[in-house]
Amino acid sequence: MLEYLYPLRTYLVVSGVEKPNVMTADWVVPLSFNPQLLGVAIGHSRYTHSLIKECGEFVVAVPTIELLKDVWKAGTLSGAKGDKMEKLSLTLVESKKVKVPSIKECQANIECKVVKEVETGDHTFFVGEILDVSYGDAFKEGKPDINYKFVMHASFGKNFTTNSSETFEP
Ligand SMILES: Cc1cc2nc3c(=O)[nH]c(=O)nc-3n(C[C@H](O)[C@H](O)[C@H](O)COP(=O)(O)O)c2cc1C
Repeated sequence: MLEYLYPLRTYLVVSGVEKPNVMTADWVVPLSFNPQLLGVAIGHSRYTHSLIKECGEFVVAVPTIELLKDVWKAGTLSGAKGDKMEKLSLTLVESKKVKVPSIKECQANIECKVVKEVETGDHTFFVGEILDVSYGDAFKEGKPDINYKFVMHASFGKNFTTNSSETFEP
């Protein structure tokens, strides 16, 4: 029944320190201004799940529609089966406050430290306190580009749209 909630914005979740991994996630929720909290629901079977459990940090990166092919790959391949990063054209860069890296090509990278974990059936809801944020390549003339085209998952499956009248396919 969760498909009735769609369309939902789509993000990338970076986890892991030694060998970082990137996974696509729609289930990302802002939770509190003070303290600044952001939650992500990660399936128990995801490699990302074990990496977040291990290092207690994650980065939520905000992709632009130009990154849709990578968004699709990050959401259909698993880092548990070989090096997913080799198959993506994303550049990992150092984050400001967490050991987990950020993604250079994304609009923004939100750096989080896990402060709570809630078991929700087949997912774990990781509540992250936001420690810092950085802007990636979509940063223009000293300001984030507010007109960038974000990635919106239209429904379960391979249907994406954005904040424009165009439609896109990975
Ligand atoms: C658009 C899209 C959104 C997704 N959203 C989520 C999500 O919010 N939570 C989740 O656990 N999996 C989600 N997935 C599935 C994971 O991204 C997918 O299982 C991925 O291969 C896991 O990678 P990993 O094993 O390297 O962590 C989504 C997939 C796609 C394509």
